[in-house]
This record gives sequence, C-alpha cells and structure tokens, in this order.
Amino acid sequence: MKILGISGSPVENGNNEILINKVLHIAENRNFETDKLLLSSCNISPCNACDACRDNDTCPIEDDMDGVYAKLKQADAIIVSSPVYFGGMTGQLKCLFDRSVLLRRQGFALNNKLGAAIAVGGSRNGGQEKTIQTIHDCMHVHGMIVIGDGGHFGGTSQKPVVEDDVGMKTVEDTINKMCDVLQMLKQ
Ligand SMILES: Cc1cc2nc3c(=O)[nH]c(=O)nc-3n(C[C@H](O)[C@H](O)[C@H](O)COP(=O)(O)O)c2cc1C
Repeated sequence: MKILGISGSPVENGNNEILINKVLHIAENRNFETDKLLLSSCNISPCNACDACRDNDTCPIEDDMDGVYAKLKQADAIIVSSPVYFGGMTGQLKCLFDRSVLLRRQGFALNNKLGAAIAVGGSRNGGQEKTIQTIHDCMHVHGMIVIGDGGHFGGTSQKPVVEDDVGMKTVEDTINKMCDVLQMLKQ
C-alpha cells in the first residue's frame, strides 16, 4: 500500500519538507511504499471555475496538475503538511485542493483513501489546529477517511521543527496512526 506525502510549502528544504521526509522514512521502515510531492517545485494555478471538468471530465489549465492527479489517484493514503499562513493553509496548497475538484467529478476518485494533516507555524499557537482543520475539510469533501494522531488532530509543530520535540512526537504519532489503520485495512 502506498502513502503519498505532500509538502504545501513554497520553501525548498524547509521545515515542512523535513517533516514530510521524516514521515515517509517512518512509513518505509514499516514496509509501506511511499511517494512524495513538494509544492516548492510545482507550478499549480488557481481553479478559475470554467466548469470544463464538469462538462468534459478534463481541466484545460496547462501546468503541473496532471502529475499531481496521477500521484493522488495512485495513493492509498495521503499525509499533507502545510505551513500556517495567516492562520490557514498556504495558497499553493489551496490551489491544489481547489483543482482536485476534477477528481471528485471523476466519480470521487479519492473516496475512502486515508488522510492526515500536519501544520507548522512560526509561533507555538499560530493557527496549527485551524490549518489542520481546513486540510481535513478538503479531505472530507473528497470522501476521504480522516485520521489524527491518536489523541488529537494531527501533527502540530513550530519552526525550527528539528528543535520542537513535542511537535515532532505529534508528527510521528500521526504517521504511525496512518500506518496502523492501513495495516488494519489490509487484514
Ligand atoms: C505569509 C506568511 C504568513 C504566515 N502566517 C503565520 C501565522 O499565521 N501563524 C504562524 O504561526 N506562522 C506564520 N507564518 C510562519 C510560517 O508558518 C513558517 O515560516 C513556516 O511554517 C515554515 O515552514 P517552511 O520552512 O516549510 O516554509 C507565516 C509565514 C508567511 C510567509
């Protein structure tokens, strides 16, 4: 079974990418296949509500979304990490979720995939839980099965993430919960 990790940060080698590398490493050690998507190296334009996806099942915007659709469809579980920007997810990540409406119109292609979220803030209480909530909301709109860290809502971290031991534990708990649930589903 395959776990896709998505970093919603525009910053290459930044805190969110460190966490995505970390969770995928844990998943690989638990014998899951992994895949990675870094929005720091993707060009994703906003949805402009042209409705071509409703009418023809396609999106006419020419950018990196074709590859993103394929990765989303191939995954059994998707863990998304976002920086907190003004108390919510990044614009780059919101563009990805808005454009993913195409998959909803293709018979709910993400239905019943597992989903989990991580948020990184510059402040300790800068909106991590609110950011996680908005990512969960997008996952619910796709009919995904949303999981947390086993006690609360997901991974909540403060930058620099490598110095935030408490936050790192919530991130580890989140990917381990995802692996546990995938294993249960496999049985
Ligand atoms: C435009 C902007 C808005 C931000 N807003 C918040 C915020 O509301 N709360 C917060 O804790 N940090 C905020 N930050 C800090 C980022 O969350 C932080 O730098 C980021 O998570 C670091 O991750 P990265 O290295 O992967 O980009 C903001 C940063 C930027 C650039």
